[in-house]
Amino acid sequence: MKKLSECRIDFPSLSRQYNGRHLVYLDGPAGSQIPQSVIDAISNYYKTCNANTHGQFVTTNETDDLMHGVRGKLAAFLGAESAETISLGQNMTTLCFSLSRAIGRTLAAGDEVLITALDHEANRGPWLSLEQLGIVVKEVAMLPNGVLDYDDFEQKINDKTKLVAIGYASNLTGTINDIKKASALTEKVGARLVVDAVHYAPHFPIDVNELGCDFLLCSAYKFYGPHVGILYSKPGALENLPTDRLSTQEQTIPYLIETGTLNHAAFSGAGAAIDYLESFGNGDNTRDRLISAMTAISDHEHVLGKRLYTKLSEIDGIDIRGLDFSEMNRTPTISFYKEGITAEEICKQLGENSICGWDGHFYAKRAVEKMGLLDKGGVTRLGISIYTTEEEIDYTVNVIKKFFR
Ligand SMILES: Cc1ncc(COP(=O)(O)O)c(C=O)c1O
Repeated sequence: MKKLSECRIDFPSLSRQYNGRHLVYLDGPAGSQIPQSVIDAISNYYKTCNANTHGQFVTTNETDDLMHGVRGKLAAFLGAESAETISLGQNMTTLCFSLSRAIGRTLAAGDEVLITALDHEANRGPWLSLEQLGIVVKEVAMLPNGVLDYDDFEQKINDKTKLVAIGYASNLTGTINDIKKASALTEKVGARLVVDAVHYAPHFPIDVNELGCDFLLCSAYKFYGPHVGILYSKPGALENLPTDRLSTQEQTIPYLIETGTLNHAAFSGAGAAIDYLESFGNGDNTRDRLISAMTAISDHEHVLGKRLYTKLSEIDGIDIRGLDFSEMNRTPTISFYKEGITAEEICKQLGENSICGWDGHFYAKRAVEKMGLLDKGGVTRLGISIYTTEEEIDYTVNVIKKFFR
């Protein structure tokens, strides 16, 4: 079993220098760095078995096996029952639009869909587009601390609700949403539950069956893999959906929501990313090792996140949007605002000091708007990844302190 504290050596990009020191990657919520094993898997695919699927020769057969194997690894990562529950695509947004178009065809004008104010636009826009069909889209409100208003949730869900779309964790505030509660409320009215786990997946173990969701989406580039998207569908949930598809393509799960040729090389990298995560865990099988690894990752990152949160909170006038680190109810992603200095100015300063942070709304635009910060340039977001060190956190806080002086 590998130690998280020794992972930095696996990431070639961590040695990249800028302005006299190695880059500090606190932009994980926008995409993590990639270990050498993932880079090797991608390049080896091109070197040894680059082909399309479902043919009669060696490289196409190997590509079929590879893609099936990757689906199996992703199923183990999500606690899903089989490779057949995993559909693959370009990114989460594209898959979510495909899903919303298909589900939209099963709904009638006047049916309702519930989205949240805290969600990334990728889990709002596809559902809001159903308004064109006369479907009523309602929004669960957000409390000022960046937590969903569950009383509002209970008030808005009703017998007309046919689908609830909710994020597992906010890519803005790091808040982890109560999916079990959402699932119980959704089940009570017989609606579908769609969970956006893009921000949650790199930080905590996922068990789709425990959550009770119908669909769950995530993106490999947030958990040390390449830029591809993943859709889990509960057995029975996808089979009869009128998805966009060609008459020539496979009409069975998990393919019937996939269009065209997939990026096989990138998915080979996604499989390697799961292998990489698994190497930090122990247990008798892949699933157990992944749970053990992701639990170790959440503990490790929580300590680092708490350090960053505590040090930032000590800075005069800094306004952190999100929960503190007293409980395991948030990811290690911290967004803050400082009156009189825009997030863009802060991030430019960080950038000059070799620190990769992000400014703005990160597509969690509705939540930033609700916080009254949209016209003020949004917030500065810093995210912890498995390779983040205490030294990097202390250095970053010192750069911010100096800049604010
Ligand atoms: C919470 C969340 N949901 C969805 C997305 C969109 O993912 P993708 O880029 O794979 O479409 C992101 C991307 O940042 C995200 O953070």
